[in-house]
Amino acid sequence: MRYLITGGAGFIGSHLAEELLARGHCVSVIDNLSTGSITNIEHLKPDDNFTYVIDDMANEPLLAELIDNCGVVFHLAAAVGVKLIVDSPVHTIETNVYGTRLVLKHAAKKKRKVVFASTSEVYGKSIKVPFSEDDDMVLGSTKKSRWSYAASKAVDEFLALSYAKEKKLPAVVVRLFNTVGPRQVGHYGMVIPTFITQALAGGPITVFGDGTQSRCFCYVKDVVSGLISLSETETAVGDVFNLGSDEEITINELAAKVRQLVNPAAKIEHIPYDQAYEEGFEDMRRRKPDISKIASLIGFKPTKNIDEILTLTADYIRNSSGDRN
Ligand SMILES: NC(=O)c1ccc[n+]([C@@H]2O[C@H](COP(=O)([O-])OP(=O)(O)OC[C@H]3O[C@@H](n4cnc5c(N)ncnc54)[C@H](O)[C@@H]3O)[C@@H](O)[C@H]2O)c1
Repeated sequence: MRYLITGGAGFIGSHLAEELLARGHCVSVIDNLSTGSITNIEHLKPDDNFTYVIDDMANEPLLAELIDNCGVVFHLAAAVGVKLIVDSPVHTIETNVYGTRLVLKHAAKKKRKVVFASTSEVYGKSIKVPFSEDDDMVLGSTKKSRWSYAASKAVDEFLALSYAKEKKLPAVVVRLFNTVGPRQVGHYGMVIPTFITQALAGGPITVFGDGTQSRCFCYVKDVVSGLISLSETETAVGDVFNLGSDEEITINELAAKVRQLVNPAAKIEHIPYDQAYEEGFEDMRRRKPDISKIASLIGFKPTKNIDEILTLTADYIRNSSGDRN
């Protein structure tokens, strides 16, 4: 099978490419390197089954040709990261909505399967935890730019499911929860690489808000296995799945674990949201998935707990600092 990965030089995309190649498949990647990096795919270049183009998915003729030449599209390219979203909401909305529209339009023409990477952010401020696929979305005001990411991904979901219904496009929507591991970078507001890098540099480890907000972190290789299994499961088509870990931890607990593991001398400092992001910034208090649906369909179960994930990620950052961009 030939797979196309949009955003394949990104964090999750590069692990996905690696795994598909290891399973003997052919992989093509399109990435504009806006948040991804060529170093993420450097080790894949010698593989004859691997090809890549550095370009924007908005290059429609090129995208159409890449889709034409593949059997399945993993659509991962997007504007991501809370910091980037708050700073560049126009870029976020345009990239996510326009890029997805193009992918779906061309995949529908050729009836190629599309696995779309959505996000747990679409649950917004909902307090009905854990989040189940059929739950309501509770997004904040349109005056708060942080919700533009969730809203743009929600429009993408509507579009993917509508293409599935109306145009018989085989599409699967996957809501990824916090995914972590080697190659993730902290520049765009990703918490684990940020904390580890801060601790390695002597601190302080900066916790935004009061730190009582919680998250569930899933190891990237578990997420990749889940994505591949869903792409291979016919009954997943036209449906939505949560994919992530349900092991919940507060950000204060996370900071303490990183300090303990990386540098017990590092201080932990709290920074108000207004200062960290923008005036009136709203966070999701808890973000825990109900993973019973994906567990019963493909037997998904995370294999790594938070301590193992932190150890693997800290080792990676220690060994690679200097050669990441
Ligand atoms: N990492 C997470 O915790 C997480 C959680 C929820 C959802 N997701 C989703 O998973 C996907 C991958 O995220 P990631 O964490 O690997 O982030 P990432 O930034 O590493 O990957 C996104 C990739 O898309 C590329 N890209 C962006 N705009 C593009 C464009 N117009 N044309 C071509 N390439 C473009 C970037 O250069 C980057 O390589 C995204 O769609 C994201 O919304 C990730």
